[in-house]
Amino acid sequence: MKLNVLESIMSIKPYEPGKPIDELKREYGIKNIVKLASNENPVGPSPLAVKAIGEHLSTMNRYPDGSAFKLTDKLAEHFGVKHENIVIGNGSDDIIALLAHAFLGSGKEAIMPFPSFLMYEISVKTAGGTPVMVPLNGLEIDLDALADAVTDRTAMIFLTNPNNPTGSHFTTSQFNDFMKKIPSDVMVIVDEAYIEFARDFNIFNSLANPLFDQRVISLRTFSKAYGLAGFRVGYGIMDKEIAEVLHRIRQPFNVNSLAQVAAAAALDDDEFLQKGVKVMQEGVDYLSEELSKMGITTFPTQSNFFLLDVKRDATEVFKSLLKHGIITRSMKSYGFESYLRINAGLPEENRAFIEAFKQVISL
Ligand SMILES: Cc1ncc(COP(=O)(O)O)c(C=O)c1O
Repeated sequence: MKLNVLESIMSIKPYEPGKPIDELKREYGIKNIVKLASNENPVGPSPLAVKAIGEHLSTMNRYPDGSAFKLTDKLAEHFGVKHENIVIGNGSDDIIALLAHAFLGSGKEAIMPFPSFLMYEISVKTAGGTPVMVPLNGLEIDLDALADAVTDRTAMIFLTNPNNPTGSHFTTSQFNDFMKKIPSDVMVIVDEAYIEFARDFNIFNSLANPLFDQRVISLRTFSKAYGLAGFRVGYGIMDKEIAEVLHRIRQPFNVNSLAQVAAAAALDDDEFLQKGVKVMQEGVDYLSEELSKMGITTFPTQSNFFLLDVKRDATEVFKSLLKHGIITRSMKSYGFESYLRINAGLPEENRAFIEAFKQVISL
């Protein structure tokens, strides 16, 4: 059959997720796998979330609440906003795609840093929009260059704070200066998937004062610090008129029932959140210290992951680590030939990584 596919769709490189643990088990027959590739929470899901899921399993013959009322209510209370300002998605990926579909269809442009989270480009192209990629300045998002890239075709700008894959961040004063240059009809999407891990008190936090600017859309996720990546729950907090448009086009049951109860319970579990953040911050410190002792350059991060320069082909190092049962992420396809990205795991996982890494780089 001759497929009639838009060139923009054919130009999309499929998103490559971190290698799944079970796949490595099958390929290499290794039992103990350490996955430091997808910036997940190694501590597990919140026990309160697990309990809530157990209590709801028997209602799985019913469709989910399409409005995700209880979770929306909890988020509204948590951030001091109204229901009408919240859109919950099947991961924040879902909200990114909804924004692109709603506002870029007519060939409008979306500006984004590169490298950054790859789903922005994929969603923009899928929706028929044009991605405008603005290179980082070193490892930092170049806010001046992003602002300079705005034209009358620009509908939205993606910002990631802290950035994935670099772990870099921008401060409140940098953000405020940036916003002065942005037209009133351009949306600024601030993706804060990792903000819970940040240690710099000056980092810009768009939800410290939610809805302070109609142009700003805040994105958050339950996949990282809240430990619910498998459930796929993310949300956006935004001007009610923008939210109303997204509600028109989202799937009616885009967040499944168990995900809704798990996320609502996890939001209440501050003890778990703090514990996970501490484990990962300590893990980042341990890994960076051990790597610097070995003469490996690591880069500062405000997240639960960081980049390291292995000073040789990163994909070769990634492959050698797989044979030791360690899953990392090569940054070669992002243009960083010799960089790996790893996230902090549990202390024993971090030690296993260091041991395997020593062997791999001594070869
Ligand atoms: C910067 C950033 N935003 C969004 C996401 C997607 O998160 P979710 O699991 O909520 O779709 C990720 C996932 O890796 C990410 O790194």
